[in-house]
Formats: sequence, structure tokens, C-alpha cells
Amino acid sequence: MGCGPGTDLPAPAERVGDSGTVIGVDRDQAMLTRARERTDGLHQVEIGEGDVHDLPVEPGTVDRAKIDRVLMHVAEPADALAQLHRVTRPGARIGLCSARRATLRPIVALRTAFSVV
Ligand SMILES: C[S@@+](CC[C@H](N)C(=O)[O-])C[C@H]1O[C@@H](n2cnc3c(N)ncnc32)[C@H](O)[C@@H]1O
Repeated sequence: MGCGPGTDLPAPAERVGDSGTVIGVDRDQAMLTRARERTDGLHQVEIGEGDVHDLPVEPGTVDRAKIDRVLMHVAEPADALAQLHRVTRPGARIGLCSARRATLRPIVALRTAFSVV
């Protein structure tokens, strides 16, 4: 989520095999174009325009989610985390990473999100 230029998409596309799907979502058109170019030919990959505050993904359909260096850019990090919770299945794994410069805000949001979901 917040896939940017799609650098991280080919690796999971390899892991999910022929029947799996990897979804990349970003709000920036230039990033989406680069992600589409990077994953051209990888039929498992779906790239879509969307905002992490309102993910264009069906509830409870995702087994693994990753949000890397995105939370420090979003207006409401807690809402973005709640969206990740909404789209993932019970038992799914979510990987989060944020930059040191903005560490505090996402951590506070993380606490808030886990207290409401
Ligand atoms: C530093 S880049 C990280 C990209 C990618 N996650 C990576 O690790 O290579 C941050 C990305 O988050 C996206 N982004 C920021 N706010 C967003 C939002 N509210 N919804 C969707 N994407 C967002 C930006 O467009 C940008 O592509």
C-alpha cells in the first residue's frame, strides 16, 4: 500500500505463484506509471489508483500486506492502519516500516489503531 514505483512488487509476485495476486495501490499517477512499467509482464500484479485512507480492496481478502515509508506522508495514519485491518483476513500478516525522521507520528497512530480495531 503506497507502492510507489513498484520496487517491492516483483518479489511477492514470484512467491504467490500463478494463481496468486499482488495488489499495488498508490495515489500518485507518476508512481503508478513507473510501477506498471516495472511489473509489465507479471500477470499476478494489479496496480490501482487509490488512497490508503480508503483502499480500493474488498474487505478480508488479503493474506499479506506491506506499508513501507508511507505512514509518515499520510494525513491520518491511524485510519490507514484501520484500512489495512479491514482488507486483511484473520491471521494475515502486515509489515510496517517508517522513516526515522517521522517515527513518532506513526507509532502513536499504531497504538491508536490497535486500540480501536
Ligand atoms: C517514499 S514512497 C515509498 C514507496 C514504496 N512503499 C517503497 O517503499 O518503495 C511513498 C509513497 O506513498 C505514496 N502515498 C503517500 N500518501 C498516500 C496516500 N494517502 N494514499 C496512497 N499513497 C500514498 C506516495 O505517492 C509515494 O509513492
